[in-house]
Amino acid sequence: MAALLLLPLLLLLSSSTPLQAQQNITLGSSLTPQGPNSFWLSPSGGFAFGFRPVIDGNTSSYLLAVWFNKTTDKTVAWYANTADPDAEVVQVSPGARLQLNSKGALSLQDSTGTEVWKPNAVGAAYAAMLDTGNFVMVAADGSTLWGTFDTPTDTILLTQEITPGMTLRSRIMPTDYSNGRFLLDMDSEYVALYLVAVPSGYKEGYYWYIVGNITKLVFDAAGTIYTAMGNGTNITMTSGVPGSMAEYYHRATLDTDGVFRQYVYLKDSGQWSPPAWATVGFQPPDICQPMLSLGSGTCGFNSYCKFDGATNQTSCFCPPQYSFIDEDRKYKGCKPDFQPQSCDMDEASAMMQFDLTWENHVDWPLADYETYQHITENQCQTLCLTDCFCAATVYQEATSTCWKKKFPLSNGRMKYDVDRKFLLKLPKSNSSQIELQKNNSFSQTELNISSKWKKDKTTYCTVTRIEVQPLQSSFNNLGLPLKAFTYAEFEEATNGFKEVTGTGASGVVYKGQLQDEVRTCIAVKKLDKIQKETEKEFTVEVQAIGQTNHKNLVRLLGFCSEGNE
Ligand SMILES: *[C@@H]1O[C@H](CO)[C@@H](O)[C@H](O)[C@H]1NC(C)=O
Ligand SMILES: *[C@@H]1O[C@H](CO)[C@@H](O)[C@H](O)[C@H]1NC(C)=O
Ligand SMILES: *[C@@H]1O[C@H](CO)[C@@H](O)[C@H](O)[C@H]1NC(C)=O
Ligand SMILES: *[C@@H]1O[C@H](CO)[C@@H](O)[C@H](O)[C@H]1NC(C)=O
Ligand SMILES: *[C@@H]1O[C@H](CO)[C@@H](O)[C@H](O)[C@H]1NC(C)=O
Ligand SMILES: *[C@@H]1O[C@H](CO)[C@@H](O)[C@H](O)[C@H]1NC(C)=O
Ligand SMILES: *[C@@H]1O[C@H](CO)[C@@H](O)[C@H](O)[C@H]1NC(C)=O
Ligand SMILES: *[C@@H]1O[C@H](CO)[C@@H](O)[C@H](O)[C@H]1NC(C)=O
Ligand SMILES: *[C@@H]1O[C@H](CO)[C@@H](O)[C@H](O)[C@H]1NC(C)=O
Ligand SMILES: *[C@@H]1O[C@H](CO)[C@@H](O)[C@H](O)[C@H]1NC(C)=O
Repeated sequence: MAALLLLPLLLLLSSSTPLQAQQNITLGSSLTPQGPNSFWLSPSGGFAFGFRPVIDGNTSSYLLAVWFNKTTDKTVAWYANTADPDAEVVQVSPGARLQLNSKGALSLQDSTGTEVWKPNAVGAAYAAMLDTGNFVMVAADGSTLWGTFDTPTDTILLTQEITPGMTLRSRIMPTDYSNGRFLLDMDSEYVALYLVAVPSGYKEGYYWYIVGNITKLVFDAAGTIYTAMGNGTNITMTSGVPGSMAEYYHRATLDTDGVFRQYVYLKDSGQWSPPAWATVGFQPPDICQPMLSLGSGTCGFNSYCKFDGATNQTSCFCPPQYSFIDEDRKYKGCKPDFQPQSCDMDEASAMMQFDLTWENHVDWPLADYETYQHITENQCQTLCLTDCFCAATVYQEATSTCWKKKFPLSNGRMKYDVDRKFLLKLPKSNSSQIELQKNNSFSQTELNISSKWKKDKTTYCTVTRIEVQPLQSSFNNLGLPLKAFTYAEFEEATNGFKEVTGTGASGVVYKGQLQDEVRTCIAVKKLDKIQKETEKEFTVEVQAIGQTNHKNLVRLLGFCSEGNE
């Protein structure tokens, strides 16, 4: 396997010197996925146009794409889609061939010689991969006949403009370029982000928009993305560059979670931090807000969403006793792992077998189907338990109001609301187990962090993000997300490592609280050195903290270590 992969790579390397000098691509030139010429580079080498595997390292299927050639992951900025109305990603086998033919047209043929893609332009004198990331076909008089900037996919680059009639469509998954669930659409009266049905593409509703006399959406050379209005006003969508423009690569992508993010990538990050794309701005501000439309919201049906302001990442979760229909494609939603309540079941059996136990801070605001007023919380619960259509309730004590919610639950999100009690219907037999279920062992992620620290002792505290997985013995078994913390966040949470709760052989443990909705209680251990005993010790210390803050606090595990021993 390794030998098979190596061969094409070597061929690429041996031919890269002449490729880099290439600026004009002359008529008659061609590319093949596995031949000596599989891509054309821009003059600076920053961008490449050509064939690349759909999945890294898998040489069975290729995209025709534009990508950043100098970022570690060779980020894709454009890929060939079939013509409207399908506009689906074009994937070809190793036998495919792209030619700039003698008529001055580009043509992509599959291994049987059938044309599978061509841009709508002929008569080019040459083509060129420009340093802006635009791959263009140019006429003899120097005018651009067609460019990849004319048919954007999910990403726009510096100096690129979107005009009425153009769209951006997210991928379904970072590694699956099929049409995703979100669309940036534009005409002369609005620009908006839509949730769309898959696969029909039906626009279910928008969740961000600007209305007015719209001229274009611009990603300007200064790093601001704005909508230019007919009256001369520019309305900023996102902006922000942490330093000089030239120090970074830039892109903005409608991501698979529906967030439009503007990113920068430090060209020369030096030795202090791993090179990576960083978010400098995004819209909408909170993708977990209900979308007020048909569809499930950003997470799938029956799941719930959490947008983490520290990392700007969206995570989707299933409630207890629910699991993802497809763990790799969480947008498909969650299914109950139990037999839902039968409508033939009499009231007494229903009350015996089901319970509204999962008190949580998750709301599914668009799933209401019935409301009651002036009733007690107990009555509210009984009404739901004896109703086979009822999946969850919300009770507001101040107004004695009860809402019943139906399947499938949609637009679920974490919401801390002291006024309301959110309850989910679950089978009784297992609900007691949920509360008792504990898992105090270290996760693989945590162990990996430890080993990483061991290797890289000087840099981790100031620059490396630390990923921490909460213990599963958490408040109501919420299964909180894997979260990335910075050293500074730990410092803040522990008030500068002030309150010591224990000292073990390997380091001091400090008590702290995160600045999140539920003021999560954490234990942070500053490790002197990593050793085997650490795991056992820490478990004990975390439990001690848990005892002083039992209810409504998540026991979270974190550890950190200073630069030098
Ligand atoms: C590219 O081709 C055009 C038209 O033939 C020519 O004017 C230009 O000088 C060429 N550029 C380079 C860098 O070869
Ligand atoms: C672009 O990527 C190819 C393939 O990884 C590599 O051989 C080449 O050196 C890169 N070019 C530049 C200018 O970085
Ligand atoms: C490569 O991808 C194809 C689907 O495109 C899949 O069937 C095949 O198993 C993959 N091969 C490897 C080695 O992952
Ligand atoms: C231009 O139009 C936008 C949106 O319609 C409006 O907010 C703005 O005030 C207008 N500007 C001027 C100068 O009229
Ligand atoms: C929109 O703006 C353009 C450019 O200023 C103007 O020509 C056009 O009349 C405007 N359209 C409307 C409907 O206001
Ligand atoms: C809007 O942006 C354009 C460039 O596209 C610029 O010429 C113009 O001055 C800007 N308008 C305002 C009001 O800033
Ligand atoms: C999150 O986005 C904000 C801009 O809205 C940015 O300042 C911040 O650095 C981002 N955080 C991360 C971890 O990307
Ligand atoms: C309850 O838990 C048991 C053991 O953990 C499991 O086998 C069973 O499927 C669960 N029942 C339901 C209804 O989820
Ligand atoms: C506890 O966590 C370990 C490591 O993450 C895992 O292998 C194990 O299956 C978990 N046990 C339970 C009961 O969840
Ligand atoms: C931990 O590290 C191993 C080896 O580097 C890797 O295979 C595994 O995926 C990592 N696990 C997690 C949860 O990061």
